Amino acid sequence: MDAAVRVQVPGKVNLALSVSPRREDGYHELTTLFMAVSLHDVVTATPARRGRLSVEVSGEGADQVPVDMSNLALKAAALLRARYGAPDHGAHLRIEKRIPVAGGMAGGSADAAGALLACSVLWGLDVGQPELLELAAELGSDVPFSLMGGCALGTGRGEQLAPTLCKGTYEWVFALAHRGLSTARVFADYDTYNEAQTTPRMVIDGLMTGLASHDLEAVRTGMCNDLEHSAIRLHPAILDTLEEGLGLGGVTAIVSGSGPTVAFLCGDEDDAVNLVVGLSTLPSVRAVVRAKGPVPGARVLSNS
Ligand code: C5P
Repeated sequence: MDAAVRVQVPGKVNLALSVSPRREDGYHELTTLFMAVSLHDVVTATPARRGRLSVEVSGEGADQVPVDMSNLALKAAALLRARYGAPDHGAHLRIEKRIPVAGGMAGGSADAAGALLACSVLWGLDVGQPELLELAAELGSDVPFSLMGGCALGTGRGEQLAPTLCKGTYEWVFALAHRGLSTARVFADYDTYNEAQTTPRMVIDGLMTGLASHDLEAVRTGMCNDLEHSAIRLHPAILDTLEEGLGLGGVTAIVSGSGPTVAFLCGDEDDAVNLVVGLSTLPSVRAVVRAKGPVPGARVLSNS
């Protein structure tokens, strides 16, 4: 049997997302607090001859994921090979998706992070975590966090990470929307409406203090997302999910990253189970999933 390296990679939620005006390179300077959650994609790499790179995708939203070289996981494999591999290194990637596509939970970034780790092991490359993190930053703003996981403060365009203290575990419920949202479109809307109302750093400091001591009330009041208005403008059903969902339970709710997934923070497991039942009945919601966070970043499940 062919060798196979199986890697699991978490999705993320931004507990805080503070956006500054667009930089000259087209990106926005961010201050964000990431948490990795137990909604995982699995990437399996098997060898392929003559340097072939290919991908197949199954699971949640698979039909919306390209399988040509515009696929971010394939780009990741190609970049890794160009920097550290040999031209005859080939791989077939199998991606099993659970993270919603274009959902604001870094699903594409997770697959790219998974491909970097799986191919580095498959090809026996001597590449450490710092080198993988550098490649990850070239591929996308959220890819380094998908590798790292846990809880981290992200600055720059989100790719500069500092791990942060987080005591205990949090219960999340995610309400998935009927369609996806393009991150670039959400940022463009943010520029159009000139909403340079950057959330003050002190709010994020308060959130970090709350996470360090598992103070649910401090976490609740510190959660913020400067992209929320833009996401709602582009996908108004988000507002129904937020408003009607909060009436059903949960401590608070926030649009996850650039949306349209809505993340509900719950007090405990019972709260989360009840909320899943309630949210499932809302017309604005396509599917509901539970997850815990923080969880580790990309890791090898098996290497045979
Ligand atoms: O880095 P990534 O390719 O994931 O970003 C997708 C798009 O989101 C970018 O092309 C850009 O339009 C927008 N973006 C941004 N500022 C960031 C991150 C992303 O404007 N910090």
